[in-house]
Amino acid sequence: MALLDYTKEGKIATFTINRPDAMNALNLEVNRLLHEAMLDFRDDDNLWVGIFTGAGDKAFCAGADIKELLPFLAKHGQETWAFPTTHTKLDMWKPLIAAINGFCLGGGLEIALGCDIRIAGEKARLGVPEVTLGLIPGDGGTQRLPRAVPRCKAAEMLLMGKMIDAQEAYRIGLVNTVVPPEEVMSTAREWAESICKAGPLAVRAAKQAMLRGCEMPLNDGLRLEFMLNAYVTSTEDFTEGTTAFVEKRKPVYKGK
Ligand code: CAA
Repeated sequence: MALLDYTKEGKIATFTINRPDAMNALNLEVNRLLHEAMLDFRDDDNLWVGIFTGAGDKAFCAGADIKELLPFLAKHGQETWAFPTTHTKLDMWKPLIAAINGFCLGGGLEIALGCDIRIAGEKARLGVPEVTLGLIPGDGGTQRLPRAVPRCKAAEMLLMGKMIDAQEAYRIGLVNTVVPPEEVMSTAREWAESICKAGPLAVRAAKQAMLRGCEMPLNDGLRLEFMLNAYVTSTEDFTEGTTAFVEKRKPVYKGK
């Protein structure tokens, strides 16, 4: 198996980082493959939801490979493909789910923070230990973490490099749910399939309105919502969804 296993099953793509002996740490090759796979996912009309996970049960991902990637980033920090979370996930309106078993640290938590939904196994441990190595989370962590959890908890994690367990992550709203380790992937798939039952263009518009709107003053956000609503109500999917309701049948969405 390659260092990244990128699979497509129906409307769902799965990205599995496959370096279990190195706690699925992100080396140059993994980041390059992740970047390419995410672009393919974004541009493939047949794919509606993405799931990120790590091979084995010890780690989702322990962050950047400290031996290989960090020295490279120190010298070539401008290479956008080397920061797949920050760059490739900008303007990614298809929903992403992180299926987290074991350690989810540094760049690993940054991948999870770039996802919309996080499913954690009971033994998951999450953190951004970068400052203990003399650097900061450089792939979105300093920006997305304080937007995801209360500021004082983000500070506790970012300034001390403190790890938290799955229950604490649930308590502060960092993960959506905590399940037994063996149910993490099946739960992620269930949630992905549930999203696939909705109109995909509406789902993407809702994500775009939510993420971009949070960066705007309320009035601008409401204008954005108004424009996106005008767009989705002009689509075939909108006609199909409302007609199916009236005809008491399940809608068949085409993403058009
Ligand atoms: N980079 C490279 N190798 C790593 C790694 C990493 N981030 N994390 C773990 N590994 C390797 C270890 O070197 C070890 O390899 P060897 O068997 O060849 O020695 C193997 O994975 C198993 O790890 P441990 O023996 O350390 O396992 P453990 O159970 O005792 O500890 C751990 C697990 C707590 C995750 C510990 O490995 C650890 O602290 N890892 C580093 C986590 C970290 O600091 N991540 C942040 C990286 S910086 C970053 O991500 C920057 C960014 O924002 C882009």
